[in-house]
Amino acid sequence: MNNNATERAKMPTGDSSVLDSRSLTNSYATLIPVLQKGMRVLDVGCGTGAISAGIAAAVGSTGTVVGIDSSAHLIAKGKDDHADLPQLTLIEADLFTYDPAEKFDLIVSARVLQWLSNPAAALLKFKSLLKPGGIISILDYNHTQLQWTPAPPVSMQQFYQSFLDWRADAGMDNNMADHLPGIFEQLGFHNITTIPADEVYKKSTHSFVEKAGIWTKVAELRGPQMVTSGFITEAARLTAITEYNAWVQEGAEEMVMKLKEVRATV
Ligand SMILES: C[S@@+](CC[C@H](N)C(=O)[O-])C[C@H]1O[C@@H](n2cnc3c(N)ncnc32)[C@H](O)[C@@H]1O
Repeated sequence: MNNNATERAKMPTGDSSVLDSRSLTNSYATLIPVLQKGMRVLDVGCGTGAISAGIAAAVGSTGTVVGIDSSAHLIAKGKDDHADLPQLTLIEADLFTYDPAEKFDLIVSARVLQWLSNPAAALLKFKSLLKPGGIISILDYNHTQLQWTPAPPVSMQQFYQSFLDWRADAGMDNNMADHLPGIFEQLGFHNITTIPADEVYKKSTHSFVEKAGIWTKVAELRGPQMVTSGFITEAARLTAITEYNAWVQEGAEEMVMKLKEVRATV
């Protein structure tokens, strides 16, 4: 295991708005047809449970959703946010050591394996937690394929390249989504299906500034770690934030985050 990845995967405290703004319908819609009343579901790396809550509503009061996350502050906020859903339980736990008493019909994990240096080990762990015939669904990014139209300021292009380099240095996969089917196959999963799940944000949509602004948040929240580990200077980070904010308000037309859901059975 690459300890840098474990350290770098930790969610900074202080602002969970990017995670909170997500929902099952706006950020994991391809999963909806899989969800059935009464299912027992594990959501790994659930953050504040914003997506888990939608899953809990879909499986209904006869179902169970367990969300686990290694970030204590996110689980604490999620418990406050979703106290009205008795079928949803949020637990602070690391996925590699989580040891539930009962197995699951469905295990989902969105935007989490991209933060691991050993995604195959995580998938093997998930396989061990599924009931016979159980389903696994992983939603993840191809970060190298992100599209901005027109090109953002050079300062943000440089910040983004530093972000990719900082991640790769810790053993994280910048094309996680494209590599998932091969790993699934190696681990002996069946019925492997890949579903395109790009997030397309256009200037004309009301949430464009917030969504395109994800890279401001990354520069604000993750950027300091990148500065500390020598991947970008503090001056370059601050310039990227200022110039990108102006670009999002004035010059930006579209941003496409490239994602795929890869689904399989045991
Ligand atoms: C980018 S967030 C995704 C949150 C949510 N699934 C979503 O799609 O919005 C990744 C989450 O994975 C969690 N995480 C990273 N490594 C983990 C591990 N080893 N065990 C459990 N959670 C982990 C982080 O704390 C973080 O909340």
